[in-house]
Amino acid sequence: MATQVDVVAPGAIEADVLAVPVAQPTAKLDAAAAAVDARIGGRIAALASAGDVTGRAGAVVLLHDPPDLGVPRVALAGLGARERLDADSFRTAAAAVARAAGAFGGTVAWLLDDSIAVPLDVQAGAIVEGTLLGAYDPGRWKTGDDRRREISRLSIATDADVAAATRRAEIVARWTNRARDLSNEPPNMLYPETLAERATDVAATSDALTIEVLGPAELEELGAGAILAVGSGSNHPPRLIVLRYDPPGAPEEPVLGLVGKAITFDTGGLSIKTAGGMVDMKGDMSGGGVVICGIGALADLALPVRAIAVVASAENAIDAESYRPSDILTAMNGKTIEITNTDAEGRLVLADALWHTRQLGATHMVDFATLTGAMELALGDLYAGVFVNDDAWWKTIEESSETSGDKAWRFPLHPRYRRYIDSTYADMMNSSSLRQGSPALAAEFLHEFVGEGPWAHFDMAGTGFLERSRGDYLTTPGGTGYGVRLIAEVASRMG
Ligand code: BES
Ligand code: MN
Ligand code: ZN
Repeated sequence: MATQVDVVAPGAIEADVLAVPVAQPTAKLDAAAAAVDARIGGRIAALASAGDVTGRAGAVVLLHDPPDLGVPRVALAGLGARERLDADSFRTAAAAVARAAGAFGGTVAWLLDDSIAVPLDVQAGAIVEGTLLGAYDPGRWKTGDDRRREISRLSIATDADVAAATRRAEIVARWTNRARDLSNEPPNMLYPETLAERATDVAATSDALTIEVLGPAELEELGAGAILAVGSGSNHPPRLIVLRYDPPGAPEEPVLGLVGKAITFDTGGLSIKTAGGMVDMKGDMSGGGVVICGIGALADLALPVRAIAVVASAENAIDAESYRPSDILTAMNGKTIEITNTDAEGRLVLADALWHTRQLGATHMVDFATLTGAMELALGDLYAGVFVNDDAWWKTIEESSETSGDKAWRFPLHPRYRRYIDSTYADMMNSSSLRQGSPALAAEFLHEFVGEGPWAHFDMAGTGFLERSRGDYLTTPGGTGYGVRLIAEVASRMG
């Protein structure tokens, strides 16, 4: 059962938990907390001066049976330092309340606070996102009763008009959690064919979505030699999944092209990974999951901009039929690639997918890929590294990143990185022999296949799949849905 989300007047709150924001320092309470405090005899101020209520980001103190409030519990939800409050402060606080409330199930209402320097519609959206993302339970395959309890209703309590922001955040958060479900699904269940089935389910959610799934025969026909080679060692042959969103009445252009890497499991192939390096490689399809759910979100939001999502899905497995180091492949655009490392498979499947997306008419492209271990080393789990060939397109992406919460940091795209992958025999190699600049040369590799027009490459190796809590509103290991919220923002700015 999904959490029901609504907006109610502060006088009409009915909930098991009433959440109230508290910023640091607590010597002076913000307006909402002060108003509640006045009604319950100063207990909040007393707890603040005793040091029980700190306002620390993510800290929650529950008051039981507060007098005269008409709710059984108040959750004092820490936002962090008052001078640095932003949407993330509310997302984190809401996630913490959701986990506290999840312990006994039931319903939550949140008071907004117009004395805090974050616009009320931003507060509302962030609370919805934080609650839905924070309550996410990755334990879908547990058979016992230790699953997380769902919050049945979330009410935003305010007189301000935040209905549109609330509704939008609800839609986007649901699609983000759906992308997390895809990332978390194990590789014995999720492989190219079943990922295509999941995408077909997404296409069925809107009349404006259509789907086409290309298998080995069609890929052969198209000359997609790169994705075919990567998938050749698996019993589960590759799929190129193409979803189109054509909202009625939308202009012919721009067309947003969304490209995703969906390696359903990455063993490294014959250039095999270590046992430790293979851990969590079910998450190597996260970029693909994010563009499937991203285009689902665009349709659900009824955004007036056309989009095409192309998901390159293969399993990088080990077998007598596996592609080898030294093989020379021809990609869909006719360029030849000498394989020097079968573990650099993501750029290969993306080569065909990027080119195909441009052929299908995308004017503005974005790709999402868990591409290089070095990007995870560089930026960890918070920021994705982004390579962009167009400054105006970067500006759109940077602004979308800031409002969506999917953080992005620009990295350099420079043609002189191309020399790292110059090949003696073919147009390029798929990896360098030097342990240098791995994310940047991978981006230069992809650049060979994007055709003309704006393009941005998101290396989300660190942000797509967590080993542990990120310490904010993403508190469970596993898929994050990184990119879904950003895609919705980018498309909103285009249409
Ligand atoms: N899927 C991996 C990258 C990755 C590593 C993602 C860790 C998330 C966490 C990718 O296919 C890969 O193996 N990249 C290699 C490329 C190298 C062989 C040139 C890498 O980065 O080590
Ligand atoms: Mn790999
Ligand atoms: Zn990979």
